[in-house]
Amino acid sequence: MWRYEEQNLWSNNEVKSVKHYNSENEILLVGEGDFSFSLCLANAFGSASNIVATSLDSYDDVIKKYNGAATNLLRLRSYGAQLLHRVDATKMQFHPYLRNRKFDRIIYNFPHAGFIGLENDPQVIEIHRNLVRGFLKNASCMLHLDGEVHVTHKDTNPFNTWNIEELGTQSSLQLLECVKFNIHDYPGYNNKRGDGKRSDEPFPLGKCKTFKFTSASASSSSSSSSSSSSSHHKNPLQYQEISSQRTNVCPVMNLVFQIFMIFFFIWTYIHLFNLWPNSN
Ligand SMILES: C[S@@+](CC[C@H](N)C(=O)[O-])C[C@H]1O[C@@H](n2cnc3c(N)ncnc32)[C@H](O)[C@@H]1O
Repeated sequence: MWRYEEQNLWSNNEVKSVKHYNSENEILLVGEGDFSFSLCLANAFGSASNIVATSLDSYDDVIKKYNGAATNLLRLRSYGAQLLHRVDATKMQFHPYLRNRKFDRIIYNFPHAGFIGLENDPQVIEIHRNLVRGFLKNASCMLHLDGEVHVTHKDTNPFNTWNIEELGTQSSLQLLECVKFNIHDYPGYNNKRGDGKRSDEPFPLGKCKTFKFTSASASSSSSSSSSSSSSHHKNPLQYQEISSQRTNVCPVMNLVFQIFMIFFFIWTYIHLFNLWPNSN
């Protein structure tokens, strides 16, 4: 009996994985279509308590656009996922439910700003690039140490002229590696066009790649450290040390915000209770 319970506990704690992702990662998914990629991860983990899945569209629009979305969202909710809609990837670091959170993996599959013109038009390419740059800039502020941002993208012309690696560098991220993407690694995932009358249809994939980025400051501090750790779970002391070396703009903004709030509360308190020294 004891042995059985112990075994059961062990199997519940087992780390489950699918391709680059595992059940111990805190995962944020951005720009989801019918939420089938998030559900694929949840199915593999047997849980989604480590998953925050988001879409730019409102809940109503997601349900209208994609036939499978209602069921996928229900399943994700029953697995314990946090589901957020109307999340703009280029502003997500300020979203009320995301601004104080950090993740191990932030994933955006096939970022695309919509069918606004010919895909090889330089102005259209710049609009798509602005979306990816905005996403990467926000994601870079939302990573745990050793966290990774993943962008999966088509590797055929004109998509491979977006220069995703350069967009990462401009966003304080460093390319770790760029690996072949194979949709068969993700059972149940349906890639979606995501815009226009044919939103629910897949687009031809052809050759695709997953770009994996890490924070440039984290990777330089860990490479300069003689005993680098591969996960922040492993050595909290080392995590603290490395984390304090990071020069990121987000902590500075936090400090400015906190100082502002302190002054605001003092000012409100004084005015509320009429404590301001009276000159009379
Ligand atoms: C080509 S579709 C890919 C959808 C889904 N990721 C997939 O793999 O099936 C592009 C997605 O990017 C989303 N998107 C466009 N602009 C966005 C933004 N500013 N923030 C978040 N998502 C955005 C669209 O709503 C659409 O779902």
